[in-house]
Amino acid sequence: MSRPGAGTRRNLLSISDLGPDVAGGIDEVMTLTDSFVEVSERQIPKVPALRGRTVVSLFFEDSTRTRLSFETAAKRLSADTMNFSVGTSSVKKGESLRDTIETIEAMGVDAIVVRHASSGVPKQVAQWADAAVINAGDGWHEHPTQALLDCYTIRQHAGGVAGKRIAIVGDVKHSRVARSNVAAFTALRAEVTLVAPPTLLPPSLDGWPVKVSHDLESVLATTDVCYLLRMQRERMTEALIPSLREYTALYGLTARRADLLPDGALVMHPGPMNRGVEIAAEVAERPNAVIVDQVRNGVAVRMAVLFLLLGSGTEFGGDGNG
Ligand code: NCD
Repeated sequence: MSRPGAGTRRNLLSISDLGPDVAGGIDEVMTLTDSFVEVSERQIPKVPALRGRTVVSLFFEDSTRTRLSFETAAKRLSADTMNFSVGTSSVKKGESLRDTIETIEAMGVDAIVVRHASSGVPKQVAQWADAAVINAGDGWHEHPTQALLDCYTIRQHAGGVAGKRIAIVGDVKHSRVARSNVAAFTALRAEVTLVAPPTLLPPSLDGWPVKVSHDLESVLATTDVCYLLRMQRERMTEALIPSLREYTALYGLTARRADLLPDGALVMHPGPMNRGVEIAAEVAERPNAVIVDQVRNGVAVRMAVLFLLLGSGTEFGGDGNG
């Protein structure tokens, strides 16, 4: 991520925006996240770092955790927050994206957090806006802060990402999480295997430094992190699997399959989970399933990202009241 004064725009649209040395960029976010985890554990989990700055959330697609997480992160940094809901905005009256951005910018905002069902919308917004733009998920393209919080969670529970054997299981084709995670995990030198039926893989995997398997059971014994993806039915325009029941029979992480994982292997999911489809309800409750930690870490990671993009030079620490 380029910093203020570095001469380039300050955006986080994809993992590649973390700089020419992606691994170094991720490490920088991870180190800063450690400080914000510490802030989050204080009795008053707030610092004045972004006081006077305004962060607007522009969500054109449903979201629970990502939206709340960015909002909490901005508030813990003492930034002002604005929320834009498509359902109650003039977008319903046909206002274009460009006019919407101009209107928001006219109010004086420092960062725009965008989620949209179409790939490339955050990039387009960044071309129009002076504010820093953060991609909170665009179509099937990228979801960089999800990848960062996943790297942080693996680092927290397994000591690091380098050398870990990570299986990303399920609907890779429609998953922006998979694209950002493959970029981040491989930059940190993990070994990534995509596990999915051929119809749920992208048509071409050229340039993806990954292995592919269609047999979940055969990979589990040599997996350190089993990362499950949601079946994104809302993005499927054709019948890509015979039925959800058949998908679960072959690719669901059932209790029996989870027992094939080595001791201490992590089970992860970006949420929202379809319990009983890609993951058995009981497996999601096991101690090695770190799904709640992913959500918890998301706040501190987004604090780090907002701070790096908008950093005011205000000293760290303080109780937020000063
Ligand atoms: C993901 C998303 O919306 O891209 N969820 C999230 O942000 N935690 C994954 C999904 O929708 O399956």
